[in-house]
Amino acid sequence: MPFVTALILAAGKGTRMKSDLPKVLHKVGGKPMVEHVLDAVRKAGIEKAVTVVGHEADKVKNALGDKTEYVIQEQQLGTGHAVMAALPAIKESKGTVLIACGDTPLITKDTFDKLLKAHFTSGSVCTILSAKITNPFGYGRIIRNPDTSVDRIVEQKDALPHELAVDEINTGTYCFDLKWLKEAINKLTVNNAQGEYYLTDTVAFFVSQGLKVNAFIVEDYQETLGINSRVQLAEAEKVLRMRKAIQLMERGVTVVDPQSTFIDAEVEINPDTVIEPFTFIRGKTRIGSRCTIGPFSDISDCQILDNAYVNRSVIIESMVGENCTIGPFAYLRPGTRLVERVKVGDFVEIKNSVIGEGSKVPHLSYVGDAQVGRNVNIGCGTITCNYDGKKKHPTKIDDGAFIGSNTNLVAPAEVGEGAVIGAGSTITKKVPDYALAVGRAKQVNISEWATKKEEKNED
Ligand code: UD1
Ligand code: CA
Repeated sequence: MPFVTALILAAGKGTRMKSDLPKVLHKVGGKPMVEHVLDAVRKAGIEKAVTVVGHEADKVKNALGDKTEYVIQEQQLGTGHAVMAALPAIKESKGTVLIACGDTPLITKDTFDKLLKAHFTSGSVCTILSAKITNPFGYGRIIRNPDTSVDRIVEQKDALPHELAVDEINTGTYCFDLKWLKEAINKLTVNNAQGEYYLTDTVAFFVSQGLKVNAFIVEDYQETLGINSRVQLAEAEKVLRMRKAIQLMERGVTVVDPQSTFIDAEVEINPDTVIEPFTFIRGKTRIGSRCTIGPFSDISDCQILDNAYVNRSVIIESMVGENCTIGPFAYLRPGTRLVERVKVGDFVEIKNSVIGEGSKVPHLSYVGDAQVGRNVNIGCGTITCNYDGKKKHPTKIDDGAFIGSNTNLVAPAEVGEGAVIGAGSTITKKVPDYALAVGRAKQVNISEWATKKEEKNED
């Protein structure tokens, strides 16, 4: 492929979002819309991407980091002006420029591929990605000559009635020959209904120079939808969600009910895993094979290995090893690592802890800042008292230890290998290997107390 630079136009405010956040940073499918566009550009094999930022430029730069280069368009005087601002960032003297908008998150790598291919094979100086739609209101129209060659693009606000009747529209994505784009961009004026520099006016310039312009009609118009409002944002979310579910199903994942399953674009899941309804899988989560996830689970940025079973649980930034069982109603917070064959049962919260192979935390426990060895049994209602009001302290429980129900482990705490803790203990001292620790008040029985109380009441 000849040298291609991508230019992403993302300087606009997006007034109709009614938001403090710049439009292109609103998330769909778990990432900012402009990031979807950039990722599709990358997948199409384009290495150099320049993003035009303006409104809240710093926020956009922070969100995208070094995924792209940036140019600042201080004042937004139109799409042609945005390209004017960006061209100095392209040092090459020749090549191709792919221009896309930061608010079209549904566009795919395949469409970029096809557009580029159409551009290279037709030998045009400009190839417009166009679409045929039933309601073209608001878009620029593609005006063709009687021989069907492209003559110009006319914007909605500048169009004559017969031009408004044209149903082929400009999607806002194009390929340009760099040399001719540089030539044309300097010729733009603001003599139009909006007083802006229109990138679309370059088309008439090319034609006036006897150069060929081509319009390539997109297969699936939905891909080129620009997001301008929160309603459209929700529509895009729905499209991405369905697309992701289909992609996963085609790769061998069962998604029981795609309508009620929310899986972010970047998530990876291996074959024969089943995703039950009402489940959210977010961020950069990776899930292995033969797992059952859900129903009603919410998993963010986790790595979950094969054969895991997760039911009605919330898991954040955690690692779950093979053959683990989680839930119902477990809450795994960041930094949790379940090594292998670990069982975490109902109403258990774990954070920043490692639970070793074969260990069990079956019910109603809080485990924080703990290193738990292998085959440990943590009884119902056990609490690591890890916080003294100022600092967090660690707990260490060695292999094979048995923690009786309703134990408080006052951290820093250490329980040795094979040690046993009597139910209801509050542990404040180290428990040696294989010892029994009992830390509770001794039971006192007062004989006939209840009978005597009854008799007293009768008097
Ligand atoms: C543009 C096209 C129109 C096309 C439509 C498709 C022009 C003149 N018109 O119109 O033919 O049908 O897109 O959606 O190009 N931007 C900047 N700087 C600016 C102005 C815009 O970066 O000064 C960015 C915006 O952030 C946005 C993109 O360019 O991502 C498109 O701008 P927008 O104002 O939405 O263009 P339209 O008027 O919709
Ligand atoms: Ca506009």
